[in-house]
Amino acid sequence: MMSTLVIYFSQTGTTRAAAEKIAEVKEADLIEISPEKPYKMSYWKTVVTSLKEIVTKARPELAMEIPDIQKYDRILIGCPIWCGVVPNVVLTLLDALDLNGKHVAVFTTSGATQPMKLAVKLKKLYPEVKWHRPLNANGVTEEEIRNWM
Ligand SMILES: Cc1cc2nc3c(=O)[nH]c(=O)nc-3n(C[C@H](O)[C@H](O)[C@H](O)COP(=O)(O)O)c2cc1C
Repeated sequence: MMSTLVIYFSQTGTTRAAAEKIAEVKEADLIEISPEKPYKMSYWKTVVTSLKEIVTKARPELAMEIPDIQKYDRILIGCPIWCGVVPNVVLTLLDALDLNGKHVAVFTTSGATQPMKLAVKLKKLYPEVKWHRPLNANGVTEEEIRNWM
């Protein structure tokens, strides 16, 4: 039996709901990414903040312990799509994890954007990882989750 960890970031709860569903179906442990400075702000303030972070390649501080992922074979990373990409705070965590040789995939929620492009970027940023197909978790069904990874 593969041992699986779901790690997710969520500003407004949509990705959290998807992450909980995925963790249940995959019988996985679940961890939330919590930023030092929570994104408790309006939509447009978040857009401005996120664009700034993207341009400056920021790695916002975390208010959490870096999880020990040694015992997991599979890591599923969930986040909202922000301005077409993964929120920088998720990259802070990915930088801190030793994902070398792990089976990893990303799932996203969004208004409409699909995760394929950002998954390609992640593959370039973290080439040591065994990346799997990303999952669009907008309204994801149990069957889609079972057929994934
Ligand atoms: C800063 C920001 C940027 C966003 N950029 C996109 C985008 O590029 N494409 C898209 O389809 N949705 C975009 N959205 C919508 C979110 O991805 C969507 O509402 C998501 O499900 C929110 O997840 P959460 O509730 O877990 O935070 C953006 C939202 C925010 C706040």
